[in-house]
Amino acid sequence: MAEMSGATTPAVASEPETGDGVRRRDWIHIAALSTAGVGGASLLFPLVSQMAPSADVLAASSTDIDVSAIQPGQSIKTTFRKQPLFVKRLTPQEIAAAKADDATDMRDPATLASRTKEGHEDILITMGVCTHLGCVPLGAAEGENKGEFGGYFCPCHGSHYDVAGRIRKGPAPTNLLVPEYAFSSDTVVRVG
Ligand code: FES
Repeated sequence: MAEMSGATTPAVASEPETGDGVRRRDWIHIAALSTAGVGGASLLFPLVSQMAPSADVLAASSTDIDVSAIQPGQSIKTTFRKQPLFVKRLTPQEIAAAKADDATDMRDPATLASRTKEGHEDILITMGVCTHLGCVPLGAAEGENKGEFGGYFCPCHGSHYDVAGRIRKGPAPTNLLVPEYAFSSDTVVRVG
């Protein structure tokens, strides 16, 4: 053993250590990597910058929906960025039921107010994509099964959403997603 440590000593001695115990060769490697890193970062920025969507592309990715024809208790199914989108107009009874359940213990707690816009609490806009494994829930079309809570029902594995799109029963982990949207007039909603 003493012989082996004696054999390695000259090699270490030829690479003087810095005050931190780092050998000069290591510094060269670190410096080379750092330079490559900086070069990589400076190359990356213009690429990322070119990849950022333009205002035209962003505008094209939003969807305007006229909600005036949707009667209380009705839903429509449309698409947003190639995904199903549900727009539902709640009846006064559904609004009252949803509010009464606001304080109920839920898997993904949320109030009706937090899922709608002020002054438009009767309009619920959600993605029509079950948060379990992505099936399209039933309940948006006339006569479809709305599940045990009167909202939407996912037949794939039995998730039940209430009238506010909140998960109430079944394997889905979270509420139906409410996308970014805003009312651009009393009757038109811009989603996205
Ligand atoms: S995908 Fe909806 S319950 Fe599984």
